[in-house]
Amino acid sequence: MPAPTEFIKYVDAHKDAFIARLGEAVAIPSVSGDPSHRQDVINMAGFIKRLLEPLGVKVELKDIGMEKQTDGSELPLPPVVFGVLGDNPNKKTILLYAHYDVQPALVTDGWNTDPFTLSPDNEGRLFGRGSTDDKGPLIAWINIIEAHVKLGLELPVNLRFCFEGMEESGSEGLDDLIIREKNGFFESCDCVCICDNYWMNDRTPCLTYGVRGMSYYRLVVSGPARDLHSGLFGNTVHEPMTDLILLMSKLVTPNGEILIPGLDKLVAPLTDTERKRYETLDFALTDIEDQVGAKIVLSDDKARVLMGRMRNPSLSLHGIEGAFYGPGAKTVIPAKVQGKFSIRLVPNMTPENVDPLVVKYLHDEFAKLKSKNTLKVENIHGGKPWMADPDHWNYRAAIKATEKVYKKKPDLTREGGSIPVTLTFADVLGLNVLLLPMGRGDDGAHSTNEKLDTYNYIEGTKLLGTYLHEIAVTN
Ligand code: BES
Ligand code: MN
Ligand code: MN
Repeated sequence: MPAPTEFIKYVDAHKDAFIARLGEAVAIPSVSGDPSHRQDVINMAGFIKRLLEPLGVKVELKDIGMEKQTDGSELPLPPVVFGVLGDNPNKKTILLYAHYDVQPALVTDGWNTDPFTLSPDNEGRLFGRGSTDDKGPLIAWINIIEAHVKLGLELPVNLRFCFEGMEESGSEGLDDLIIREKNGFFESCDCVCICDNYWMNDRTPCLTYGVRGMSYYRLVVSGPARDLHSGLFGNTVHEPMTDLILLMSKLVTPNGEILIPGLDKLVAPLTDTERKRYETLDFALTDIEDQVGAKIVLSDDKARVLMGRMRNPSLSLHGIEGAFYGPGAKTVIPAKVQGKFSIRLVPNMTPENVDPLVVKYLHDEFAKLKSKNTLKVENIHGGKPWMADPDHWNYRAAIKATEKVYKKKPDLTREGGSIPVTLTFADVLGLNVLLLPMGRGDDGAHSTNEKLDTYNYIEGTKLLGTYLHEIAVTN
């Protein structure tokens, strides 16, 4: 059953209204990682509720408790938005997940426009924080419901919405809620669709059947009771920053090779058939060069580069809290510094089997320094990797929908990024999960000048709507 032509026409005719609606969503700075924006994240949940309710969706804002801050204080977690539309036992029930929080963004990071004002350019690119990650997709689901309601078209499936506000900060509280509601809210769900990743390039749509997991660490080195003058105490005491830089330099080589012993043994072995799959994906090294804006790929071997993203772990150094970073030349010895790094996990790695190796290695390396400072290694958050069976009716419906809307066969990909909840849906609810992306590889999620092309937003809205019609008749 193809999507009704009225639906497709409605989406085209309402392009400007849909862009305006995305603009309203982007204008709420729902940055989950910044405590000063917590109220904005909570407001975003209210905004979504006000859009869904008039369309007949039964909405509940689920309280998931408090978040402990590093200073011991507590902040309310933003609610998970639950929505129910349809309860026909003769229809499949599709669970739709998206997140309404975003990464931080400051004009001074290098944005050309205000990050929280959706700004179109003359090529139809819509710039703004969250445009592609993940407000465009979330609003698209609302647009689809609106189209059906306004046209008096019956949806061929029942829907359950699960929209969270802490995804960018490790999805705190969500797993527990899913476990609690397994036989409640989630009871009747037959499969899951998540629209929260991207095409590999700017031309070929894809479906994604795997994401990497992650373990995020904080490495704290402390020594003196307060910041010190380097003229008075340099070459006099053990300096925390010197210890930390040395430790951080022992985690990964400039070629991306992880130096923590034992990690490589946890990685599922590569087969010939799997390697061939990477060679046939529509992807060129220039796609990465375009996306990062420089010719700095690690290798000329396309399969090696794709495997580095999709099927092998990676370790990235993210920052040092407590280090002097202002302009000028301050002659300080910082008293306490925290190095941040994360490891992207692939099958069969888990935070549980990786953590002990990381902690032991860092303590061993620290012992070799013979420093009298103190080292603490902490896991801040983590999630396991996930892979689905792409030979499932959920994927077949998405392939048919992609072919109808884009007139192209989608590539089947695995993603380097992480969406912790995918595995929870798969494991706890026992459901097939499909990642059906809307945006392109060069959208710049998490980066400056994040954008979503109007083309991808509008055609992507048609794609998600068409998927709901195809899935009703796919077995
Ligand atoms: N939409 C991304 C996930 C993603 C990124 C999928 C790149 C595919 C490619 C999501 O919003 C995200 O950023 N996730 C975080 C999760 C982390 C905080 C646990 C990530 O990947 O860094
Ligand atoms: Mn996202
Ligand atoms: Mn993200």
